[in-house]
Amino acid sequence: MKHFKLSSACLLMLSFFACTPQAGSEKDRDIDNKVEELLGKMTLQEKIGQMNQLSPNGSIDQIAGVIKEGKVGSLLNLTDPELVNKVQEIAVKESRLGIPVLMSRDVIHGYKTIFPIPLGQAATFNPRIAEDGARIAAVEASADGIRWTFAPMIDISRDPRWGRMAESCGEDPYLSAVMGAAMVKGFQGDSLDDPTAIAACAKHFVGYGAAEGGKDYNSTFIPERELRNVYFPPFEAAAKAGCATFMTSFNDNDGVPSTGNSFILKEVLRGEWNYDGVVVTDWASATEMIAHGFCKDAKEAAEKSVNAGIDMEMVSGSFMENLETLVKEKKVSVATIDNAVRNILRLKFRLGLFDNPYVVSDQTVKYAESHLAKAKEAVEQSVILLKNDNEVLPLGEMVRTVAVVGPMADAPHDQMGTWVFDGEKEHTQTPLKALREMYGDKVQIIYEPGLAYSRDKQTSGIAKAVAAARRADVVLAFVGEESILSGEAHSLADLNLRGAQSELIEALAKAGKPLVTVVMAGRPLTIGKEVDESAAVLYSFHPGTMGGPAIADLLFGKVVPSGKTPVTFPKMVGQVPVYYAHHHTGRAPSGKETLIDDIPLEAGQTSLGCTSFYMDAGFGPLFPFGYGLSYATFAYDVLELSADKLAANATLTARVNVTNTGKYAGTEVVQLYVQDKVASVARPVKELKGFQRVTLQPGETKTVTFSLPVSELAFWNIDMKKVVEPGEFKLWLGTNSEEGLSADFEVIN
Ligand code: BGC
Repeated sequence: MKHFKLSSACLLMLSFFACTPQAGSEKDRDIDNKVEELLGKMTLQEKIGQMNQLSPNGSIDQIAGVIKEGKVGSLLNLTDPELVNKVQEIAVKESRLGIPVLMSRDVIHGYKTIFPIPLGQAATFNPRIAEDGARIAAVEASADGIRWTFAPMIDISRDPRWGRMAESCGEDPYLSAVMGAAMVKGFQGDSLDDPTAIAACAKHFVGYGAAEGGKDYNSTFIPERELRNVYFPPFEAAAKAGCATFMTSFNDNDGVPSTGNSFILKEVLRGEWNYDGVVVTDWASATEMIAHGFCKDAKEAAEKSVNAGIDMEMVSGSFMENLETLVKEKKVSVATIDNAVRNILRLKFRLGLFDNPYVVSDQTVKYAESHLAKAKEAVEQSVILLKNDNEVLPLGEMVRTVAVVGPMADAPHDQMGTWVFDGEKEHTQTPLKALREMYGDKVQIIYEPGLAYSRDKQTSGIAKAVAAARRADVVLAFVGEESILSGEAHSLADLNLRGAQSELIEALAKAGKPLVTVVMAGRPLTIGKEVDESAAVLYSFHPGTMGGPAIADLLFGKVVPSGKTPVTFPKMVGQVPVYYAHHHTGRAPSGKETLIDDIPLEAGQTSLGCTSFYMDAGFGPLFPFGYGLSYATFAYDVLELSADKLAANATLTARVNVTNTGKYAGTEVVQLYVQDKVASVARPVKELKGFQRVTLQPGETKTVTFSLPVSELAFWNIDMKKVVEPGEFKLWLGTNSEEGLSADFEVIN
């Protein structure tokens, strides 16, 4: 641990976030003029119509009339380019003002070519992968006329019981901010008026991931400081990256549903972040405020939503029904309606819809070779090597026969993961298919699934799988979760492998052959027992279309794993929420406390040490945040800081030497964490402030340099001000959130 000054350094800025691309430009002023001109011609009904989003369920017959009357601003889920063009023709040619309709769809981790679920993309710690994935999704979706997606989902997710963790970038505000901003960039491309650009939507604003008990839609209780320090940052980064729209969340936070929350929408989003995009409700979240007991009827729901700062209502129709009356009764002002409509029209102009409302459909972009190659690369970087005893992986020359078992080895639908409406399983390449096609000439493959699907409790096939294992040199067991077990409204209270999968792994482990377990799931599962029983474990969050070829290459060492856990893996559900950036308690455990099996009979009340730990789960998680092994090994050495005392406006440079001490070339994700030791409010034990992927040949050393503006250490303090408080800090550079070299520095006045 040394501290000395660097004379000069190749600085990599930690801030990935560009400013709103068009802000204040001539193009923007021109658009604003057009918006005002159009607004001036609109009746109140036509304005309210723009604030209405409908889902026509595939047919447009029943909505042609309302489109003609100018009573629809946006449609959801129309994916037939011919229908899209028909709708636009009605809107443009037959409605009084010819305002085109904005077509939307949940394009979450791919449209046709399915990328790993967002949690898997976060495991790459590579924003370029997320940007590429979103760009490809936009190219494919816009070919069917979709110009607005409801992604990225950047809810901080610290509870794997919550099925929607799959859709998120995990537990960390910084990682979620970086990956979310990259997705915004990818969806929206260089300019929104490019026909392949689709407007992004930062969702769900805000706090949805903190649903009590991990049960979807449940209430949250997040105090303002925690909102600002933990839950807002990814959304602020998305706004800064130019994210065209925001969606409110379903939850009530401390009693106030987000759709009726003017603090988050007006004070923070519009006031503090100067946001000029569109704010849409979630599906019927306006009228769900009635069920919340926050509004007595749809009329009050419309009033509270619009007055809180909502521009557009998704599907529940309360605006159409009630806003005109509410304006007459002076409960909603015309100025409020005008502002909402301005935001919507501005987006339509920015998307170039007035100039070019029709889709010129190029179907050849779907599943293009280049898209499949990028999707494969995403999986390669996303899969996490959790264990590799005796270097059982990669599979070497000595392996002649491989037993492929388990319900996820050939599950083309399920490996795509949640939120897939358009990807087709016929295009999915499973591990079994890929192993046969890519490595079938090198090894003999015996396939014996053992179980038909992940929840299968029928144990009769296990004996055959074990017999196959006995005939093989190595066993590859593919287990995990079907896609339906994660995602919206798919919360779980038990995170163990379902069905008879655990029995399958146990039986295979006893077959006497090296057991490699590959998990495909939508969340971290409590797989401690199966990790112990396996020689090696690869964890692949549902990998999408190209999961098979990527996993095959990882198993055989053509590609070396580099994924890192974007979320802490619990040992058991009772530890949840378990995340690395927790606060100190007044009573940290020493790690020497007595655990449950060692407690003497009739032990005295205080004999366990009175510290903060679980008697049965112990002290730590199964795997910490940022964890992941490689076939290479990396050594960290010589941590240097540019200064040990810095002013609040200075920039700290930190560098460390990383050496590949192994036999394989590999990529390490070097992570930078900081702890603010003493502050006006308790601060997390450490927080991620930067990361870099570094590729090293065997024996090679690279100096990895981070540039950390001291301003990045600001937090919302006791006076609810965002400041850097002078004092002592600790910095780590390391391979995960628990291991690294550290050094101290001080911020002075
Ligand atoms: C989800 C949103 C989604 C919307 C439209 C809702 O149920 O919460 O994330 O964008 O449906 O499909």
